[in-house]
Amino acid sequence: MKNLRVGLIGYGFMGRTHSNAFRKVNNFFDVPCQPVLHTVCARNAERAKDFAAKWGYANVETDWRKVVESPDIDLIDIASPNDTHAEIAIAAAKAGKMVMCEKPLGRNGAESEAIVDAVEQAGVPNMVWYNYRRVPAVTLAKQLIDEGRLGRIFHYRAKFLQDWTISSDLPQGGEGLWRLDVKVAGSGVTGDLLAHCIDTAMWLNGGIDEVSAMTETFIKARKHSLTGEVEPVGIDDASLFLAKFNNGSLATFEATRYARGHKALYTLEINGEHASIMWDLHDLHRLQYFDHKDEGKLRGWKSIHITDREHPYMSNWWVPGLQIGYEHTFVHQVADFLTAVGGGHAAAPTFREGLATDDVTDAVLASAASRSWTKVKTR
Ligand SMILES: NC(=O)c1ccc[n+]([C@@H]2O[C@H](COP(=O)([O-])OP(=O)(O)OC[C@H]3O[C@@H](n4cnc5c(N)ncnc54)[C@H](O)[C@@H]3O)[C@@H](O)[C@H]2O)c1
Repeated sequence: MKNLRVGLIGYGFMGRTHSNAFRKVNNFFDVPCQPVLHTVCARNAERAKDFAAKWGYANVETDWRKVVESPDIDLIDIASPNDTHAEIAIAAAKAGKMVMCEKPLGRNGAESEAIVDAVEQAGVPNMVWYNYRRVPAVTLAKQLIDEGRLGRIFHYRAKFLQDWTISSDLPQGGEGLWRLDVKVAGSGVTGDLLAHCIDTAMWLNGGIDEVSAMTETFIKARKHSLTGEVEPVGIDDASLFLAKFNNGSLATFEATRYARGHKALYTLEINGEHASIMWDLHDLHRLQYFDHKDEGKLRGWKSIHITDREHPYMSNWWVPGLQIGYEHTFVHQVADFLTAVGGGHAAAPTFREGLATDDVTDAVLASAASRSWTKVKTR
């Protein structure tokens, strides 16, 4: 089996989920490569050393350029804030490395386009960490749709609700709070939360043609953690939009960090001619399914426990009836990436698919600013 030497940039929340996935994948999946945790890179050397010791990285680096340039590394994994993605990904592609990058790919479509150009010119394998595609229940939804069981799709409904920025005392910027600083994040919940909903939606239901959006920034100014000054808030705190898909179906999307009581409530619902599907991240191992073809007196919503061997990915885990969780979606993503790389084909979602999502988030923000229906850029 070929070793694949990983250079991880960023050891925060996603650095942990990715490291866990790289460590576990060969225990559960027969894949053609073995990830080797070669180097972790972050700006604070002491904390990076602690992280390396805990997760098993052989080396520590504080300058990502050295990781990208190292001949001993095959794969650059970008798990740092959004403003770092383009520079690192482009340099990694130019150095001939495989690149995995966290979402959103860029802070906007223009940045993502430059990243896509770089990986496509270099011909290097690439993948965006839109991990919700790899929740077995969501993967099953994709299979059911592709088998035609829903028939013509009429409606798509998605929400991603949180409540952690309601306090006006919360600063913006800096460690842990970079998501509130528009220069670093690119946008607010549109690029952070809706990007997930849009990626899943386009995977399940095809491309989005046009959108009509409304955004709001509830807290207009916050102290910046790095400058100590009260500065205007440039991100959207809430973002809602109507959309029309290329297949004619209609959609509503909503994301906010001001839905008191909700921590990470990602839900989606799809209504087709013959059947409907609902999924909820808080109950991620279940798929709700309604089939109009069922016998009338027994017809109703089924709650399918996604733990059987015939369910996506599940034969690699425990015995039927025992569920898996959030971290496993990242293991699945690495397994699919390694299989694709070993087979010489692209691993979805590719950077080009990440760009397609960023084109939609750009259209959402443009629509909200102009208060009008806006076409999504076609490439
Ligand atoms: N797929 C998902 O569900 C998901 C969930 C959360 C975050 N994300 C994405 O993952 C990325 C990271 O988010 P997070 O929540 O892990 O953030 P985080 O704040 O927890 O961690 C960010 C890490 O990047 C490091 N970093 C910052 N600048 C750096 C630089 N110039 N060089 C090297 N390291 C640097 C920080 O030290 C920190 O270790 C973001 O793009 C975010 O949108 C995706």
